[in-house]
Amino acid sequence: MTLLRVLSALLLCFLALPATAQTIAQAPSGSAIVANAQSPSGTLKVEVTLTAEGRVGYIVSRQGKPVIAESRLGFLFTDAPQMLRNFAVAGQSTRSFDQSWNEPWGEYRTIRNHYNELTVSFDEKNWLKRRMTMVFRVFDDGVGFRYEIPRRANFTHANIADELTEFNVAEPGTAWWDEALEWNREEYLYRRTPIEEIGTAQTPLTIRTASGLHLSIHEAALVDYSGMDLRRVQGRVLKASLMPSSAGPKVSRDLPLATPWRVIMIAPDAPSLYKSAQIILNLNEPNALGDVSWVKPMKYVGIWWAMHLDLATWNSGPKHGATTANAKRYIDFAAKNGFGGVLIEGWNTGWDGDWFAQGSDFSFTQAYPDFDIAEVARYAKSKGVEIIGHHETGGNIANYERQLGPALDLYQKLGIHNVKTGYVADAGGIQALGPDGKIHFEWHQGQVMVNHHLKVVTEAAKRQVTVDAHEPVKDTGLRRTYPNWVSREGQRGMEYNAWGEPKNPPEHEANLLFTRMLSGPMDFTPGVLSLKGKNNTQILSTLAKQLALYVVIYSPIQMAADLPENYEANPKAFQFIKDVAVDWDDSRMLAGEVGDYAVIVRKARGSPNWFLGAVGDEQERRVDVALDFLQPGKRYRAEIYRDGDTADYRTNPRDMIIETRSVTASDRFAFRIAPGGGAAVRFVALAH
Ligand code: NOJ
Ligand code: CA
Repeated sequence: MTLLRVLSALLLCFLALPATAQTIAQAPSGSAIVANAQSPSGTLKVEVTLTAEGRVGYIVSRQGKPVIAESRLGFLFTDAPQMLRNFAVAGQSTRSFDQSWNEPWGEYRTIRNHYNELTVSFDEKNWLKRRMTMVFRVFDDGVGFRYEIPRRANFTHANIADELTEFNVAEPGTAWWDEALEWNREEYLYRRTPIEEIGTAQTPLTIRTASGLHLSIHEAALVDYSGMDLRRVQGRVLKASLMPSSAGPKVSRDLPLATPWRVIMIAPDAPSLYKSAQIILNLNEPNALGDVSWVKPMKYVGIWWAMHLDLATWNSGPKHGATTANAKRYIDFAAKNGFGGVLIEGWNTGWDGDWFAQGSDFSFTQAYPDFDIAEVARYAKSKGVEIIGHHETGGNIANYERQLGPALDLYQKLGIHNVKTGYVADAGGIQALGPDGKIHFEWHQGQVMVNHHLKVVTEAAKRQVTVDAHEPVKDTGLRRTYPNWVSREGQRGMEYNAWGEPKNPPEHEANLLFTRMLSGPMDFTPGVLSLKGKNNTQILSTLAKQLALYVVIYSPIQMAADLPENYEANPKAFQFIKDVAVDWDDSRMLAGEVGDYAVIVRKARGSPNWFLGAVGDEQERRVDVALDFLQPGKRYRAEIYRDGDTADYRTNPRDMIIETRSVTASDRFAFRIAPGGGAAVRFVALAH
């Protein structure tokens, strides 16, 4: 200890000498700037700094103005000295990258991955001589960086107590964030506060600065690591805080390791922030599964909403929802109305009794006696409908992992190509089998769960099964590498409108679009045309807004969540749900403000048709957008579903105007978004 102190005092003296040869300039703090890189157009710049003590940091600026002021980097370990001080530059390099790649399914057909990369290695000057390499990828609309720690004779395994990464937001601003480490996991309403009032937040965390810049901090490629929260330590300094693990260290890994990418999306306005989310995908590895033509975007219905309304049960008994007869009724409804799939929950034994956060009774191969799984699978196939299987674990992954192989084999054998998984347990209540053969309690966003999800996804991929996880780990863009990971929940979805207290407020989706949705697709399960939750309670939405959700909330699998009889009772509104696409060539946000409203248009994949969706908040709003995204010179039939003049989620939610207009790219579309309202449009290209 004393020796260390003496050593660091000596080093301090040494480093306090005038700037070394590597110094380019000085940061405002007096730190040396030892390396820098600009984005391809020069809009963004990253500077890497080193203090007199040998502490590594970085600065991000946009058009010459700081966005992230000098912020520190480093690690704490549970069994080794921290990696924080005494660093000297060991080397640096740069490279440029510009390649476009195709999404097998997605919001865009082609995504351009264009950045300049800066790699700077630092070696400790004290006796440990460990290395920490920082890799920065500087895009025009954001920055990603990660740590690489190589293996050394004296450092072969990292037990990380925490990451010391800081994000020191340069300007004051407003933040949209939700609490981390709380019992209800990621399912909280977004809070809107000054940056200075953030506590510990999950990512993505979104900020609008005083000068109008839009930032979102998140992570990409979360693999064999623990999820990152952001804890405000002082002023506007947010610090990485990794999710805990029962093992003690928050992350335990053999070296060498590369951390997930820490990402700061930086855009001049809200619509451009929405597009910056492409960075998350760009920072992930390319498709590792080869031919994934078996992954099919689709709309689906399911034995689901009835349970959330308490009209049916998952468990056995007189109200059991997943009976053979009921499944056939849903399959018939799907086939008749052009839906690709039927989700069937409550088909397997284990739902009787207290399954919540318990889950040890669940069998993933044993169906209830009133559910003939082979017959249902055969019937679905004969009607050209896919079954979406269901694996609710109650958070007991020990029980699930034990059965995972046979469970997926059964689906493969029956021709079931999709599974919805679920982890209903309070935060910190995941039951996992530890290396000691005992049950350990883990967090939904911790390293154990990060690894669990990838295990399920890769095992499913071997059997050509897609995965849609509820109560999931957050999305960090791994769908690029594993395109069978089609969707997930990870925020408050429609189910909160059945039984939530409170229900989702009118601004919920306008918050989601600029926060949760920056991370990836969400299985929100829209389209409740009855506008009623459990016990006939009112959902805080107009009818038109339910349709708009199919366009604004992106997911390659989109549920028509309501009961079949409610669709049959609303055939005109239902028509839009039947018509809307789920897979896109292009997506653009035409207008929007975080938490207030958004207008999004998307071009259906492989089709000349476009769709528009608009959602607002509790305020009335008039919107006027140019239709110049349409192909010039072409005529389109616009099938419009919009809030009527008296529509209001409180007093007249069902007032919806359905009208058809003939439009071209030189027209505009002006419309009213009612309080709690929205609009949906299908633009059908006409042959002339
Ligand atoms: C919560 C999921 O979000 C919901 O969709 C599902 O129906 C229940 N868990 C039961 O698994
Ligand atoms: Ca849920």
